Amino acid sequence: MNKIGVLTSGGDAPGMNAAIRAVCRTSLHHGAECYGIMRGYQGLIENEVKQLDTTAVANILQRGGTILKTARSKAFFDKEGRAQAAKNLKEQGIDSLVVIGGDGSFKGAQKLFKEHNIKVIGVPGTIDNDILGTDLTIGYDTALNTAVSAIDKIRETAEAHDRIFIVEVMGRDAGYLALNSGISCGAQHIFIPELQENIESFVNEVTDDRKRKKQTNLIIVAEGDEFGGAQKLNEYLIEQIPNIQSRVTILGHIQRGGSPSATDRILASRMGYSAVNSLLDGISGHMIGIQGGEIKVLPFDQMKDRKKENPLDLSEMAMIISK
Ligand code: F6P
Repeated sequence: MNKIGVLTSGGDAPGMNAAIRAVCRTSLHHGAECYGIMRGYQGLIENEVKQLDTTAVANILQRGGTILKTARSKAFFDKEGRAQAAKNLKEQGIDSLVVIGGDGSFKGAQKLFKEHNIKVIGVPGTIDNDILGTDLTIGYDTALNTAVSAIDKIRETAEAHDRIFIVEVMGRDAGYLALNSGISCGAQHIFIPELQENIESFVNEVTDDRKRKKQTNLIIVAEGDEFGGAQKLNEYLIEQIPNIQSRVTILGHIQRGGSPSATDRILASRMGYSAVNSLLDGISGHMIGIQGGEIKVLPFDQMKDRKKENPLDLSEMAMIISK
């Protein structure tokens, strides 16, 4: 009897529940048992494991968050922590694990595989969409739509008052959310970690815009932008352009919550299903990705020392068509 564990790790993302459901039901379909590990790697170290039957995952497809809870486990960074986690799994006869999470969670999964021979498959779940090998990660589409609907509302009040709004979206290392919410909302300037901005020409452009009576300016900043986020940018702008009417909105964790979009539900279902099928086919040390609409099973090693690149030509396009 195969025993398959599943956990969610790192920042939660809408659609993680849909992935858990798919993992559980696909396992049961193949006659395997499915075990949910609570609070990510931390729960694995502390042996918080519960068997999941089909009703345990009923009515969760449409819910944000994760029924298994999640954590960023510091203890799992240590060899001893990982050894304890592997020991707990082995004692319960759980021989394989589906890890739903981001880049950091995949690195942990890789170590569990290499150091302790636990069979692992990664399912990319993060609103940041920054995992190499997959066009989309679970949660990104929902977070993008949440950001867009909030920014549309901000634009209305910005326009009513002829104000400049600087909106900060999530993304510590990646600017996908910033770039694509900026394109979707017609932002005049988008600041992302992947691109070094010429701050002087930005100030000049804002000044010119105001001279030509373009009073509403929407500026989107990724939280991880090198300038230091929306607040810092606003302070700088006020210094450079006296009497400027600017306001800051930090969208924050609102982008992580909410019912997953249909795109995320389908993506999560397909990825969770493929993760279990891959494990049962004897594949391990791999992640599931989607490329051009097709599910791919890719070795973790393909990610070694490489980062997913943001398509920067889109940034140029965004600037041109928002003038
Ligand atoms: O899940 C990714 C992410 O939302 C990043 O965009 C953000 O920088 C980070 O998580 C915030 O993490 P936390 O909720 O732990 O503060």
